Amino acid sequence: ANLRKLIVECPKAELHYHIDCISPELFWRFSQRNGIDVPINSLQEAREFYNFQTLDEFLTVMLTAISSIQTENDFAEMVIECALDMVKQNIVYREVMFDYTACYGSRGIPVETVVNGFAKGLTLAKQQIKNLDIRFIANLDRTAPVDQNCQYLNELVKYRELLPLIAVGMDMQEIGYPPHKQADAFAIAKGYGFKLTGHVGEVVGPEGIWDALQSIPLDRIDHGIRAVEDEELIKILAEKQILLTLCPASNISLGVYSSWSEFPIKKLMNSNVRVCINSDDPPCFHYDLTGNLIKIAETFDLSTTEVIELIRNSFIFNFAGNEHLSNVD
Ligand code: ADE
Ligand code: ZN
Repeated sequence: ANLRKLIVECPKAELHYHIDCISPELFWRFSQRNGIDVPINSLQEAREFYNFQTLDEFLTVMLTAISSIQTENDFAEMVIECALDMVKQNIVYREVMFDYTACYGSRGIPVETVVNGFAKGLTLAKQQIKNLDIRFIANLDRTAPVDQNCQYLNELVKYRELLPLIAVGMDMQEIGYPPHKQADAFAIAKGYGFKLTGHVGEVVGPEGIWDALQSIPLDRIDHGIRAVEDEELIKILAEKQILLTLCPASNISLGVYSSWSEFPIKKLMNSNVRVCINSDDPPCFHYDLTGNLIKIAETFDLSTTEVIELIRNSFIFNFAGNEHLSNVD
């Protein structure tokens, strides 16, 4: 019970959070306001619509909800909702991912609309919340041709003064889309000075992580949980101190593991692999950062030291430097 209080009250950071995955409330509001043809007729139906078994089904559900997002104001409201949630959970720093190509570009929404909307939302949120710190990670759609992703990065970089863009990542379906196919795009991103991260080892096993490590100079790995199946890989991740941004509720919701007790975080922690806890897409997976931390702490009977280490890793390995670290000392 004491640990629960510590988790709730401790200032936290979150490094793996997709802002594209909107709440059922925003899905309902945007679809009504923008007159978008969607398969829901009420807020209740929007809530029930978030139902899936696999990564593919989840991505389809999420993209349908996303199809209701249209205007600069919509993007601004997404940031404001994200910021209010940070206040609620005492999250003082969040790196927010968005996948322009898969979620917006595919429907003809200009990069400018997305960037201006996010920037506007951030400005408005900062007027209400002091010390709010949100940075953005531009995720590449790994299922898109690499040339298209290179073009996108060359366009996106023109807007970097408008938005605190710090890194480039990669998401969407992992099966059938090995990381090395996006190596040229990541090389461009690195050339622009962005930090690099990517979703690997979520639904594909260790071979997906090996492929990434051999072809892309990643600073962090999103998910990466399935590294646990390969002793050699565990050794390398521990040696190189590459942080894994784990998302337990997401993995359980998508059937990567069948229960919380099977989530192999203890083996990674005991092997000296750096990990932190994240919510991924909380409207879909029903646990926010605080909820994920509490569930992990209770399931594995973690010590206070272990819980603090998990929280601390999200600050130590963030892409913005050490300015928030004193929060957890
Ligand atoms: N996009 C949003 N969440 C994702 C996940 N867990 N895996 C791949 N792509 C995603
Ligand atoms: Zn993710």
